[in-house]
Amino acid sequence: MSDNLKLGVIGGGGWLGGAIVASLLDTGLADPEHLTLSYRSERPDRFPGARWTRDNQQLADRSDIVIVSVRPADWPALAINAQGRLVISVMAGIRLQQLSDQLNTKRVVRALPNAAAEVGKSYTPWVASSDLDDRDRLAVQRIFATCGNADEVTSEAEIDYLTGLAGSGPAFPALLATAMMNDAIKRGFHPDVARRAVDAVIVGAGRLVELRDECPGDTVERFLSYQGTTAAAIEAMRSAGFDAAVRCGLAQALEKSVDMGNCPAS
Ligand SMILES: NC(=O)c1ccc[n+]([C@@H]2O[C@H](COP(=O)([O-])OP(=O)(O)OC[C@H]3O[C@@H](n4cnc5c(N)ncnc54)[C@H](OP(=O)(O)O)[C@@H]3O)[C@@H](O)[C@H]2O)c1
Repeated sequence: MSDNLKLGVIGGGGWLGGAIVASLLDTGLADPEHLTLSYRSERPDRFPGARWTRDNQQLADRSDIVIVSVRPADWPALAINAQGRLVISVMAGIRLQQLSDQLNTKRVVRALPNAAAEVGKSYTPWVASSDLDDRDRLAVQRIFATCGNADEVTSEAEIDYLTGLAGSGPAFPALLATAMMNDAIKRGFHPDVARRAVDAVIVGAGRLVELRDECPGDTVERFLSYQGTTAAAIEAMRSAGFDAAVRCGLAQALEKSVDMGNCPAS
């Protein structure tokens, strides 16, 4: 990717858009002076040197690559002509054909980072229209590599599924931690102690995965083989429906992702 590549982020002041911009700047992949960022209500006080605008057409006109990071509910109202631009959407549910039709460009990508982009630890699957060339693909991969790992996948169905698994992913360890914390509090533990305990579980488990590079299934088997307290907990959680609850949750996320793509364009 050229060092002088001009990038625009629609919704650059939002949670995910801002995280992507911060990663692009931190890694030096983008220079502030080549960045155009748009906002809707209040101009964010971030990213000095980048150009902020409310005018998304102006953003598209100044950019080679346009990243769309507004909520899916705000997508139908987004009317810009991005002809000749590479457009990368990080919106859940919105399909390649919808992006192409509404933004008037054939070079479109549907990507699904997650909230861990904020700390450079996202996993971002992406799928591209057939009009992208190798240079475009390299640019997309390099953009998402700034905020974690990224893989090109071959179908939108994979993105729909991974929207739940990876896109929502950081919420799930938090869900487990909340259930554990609530249990500890019900048993009389001080909330601060319960909080510190579960925080350490989540952070420590993440670091172990990162440093050991061990498959999660192998970790579970290793604990089961001790036949101690952890095995007792895992077996009880599984017989209470843990795996089925996860399957059911991921199926609901998949259904929601497909449904979100059914919203009409404006
Ligand atoms: N956050 C995640 O973990 C995550 C994970 C995967 C995918 N995503 C996707 O990422 C997208 C953004 O999510 P988010 O969590 O970052 O939401 P967010 O924090 O609400 O950010 C969206 C931003 O878009 C701005 N915006 C809306 N309409 C606009 C317009 N017409 N022009 C310029 N800016 C506009 C909003 O500005 P105002 O505040 O002024 O309204 C807001 O700053 C969503 O489509 C979501 O599906 C998010």
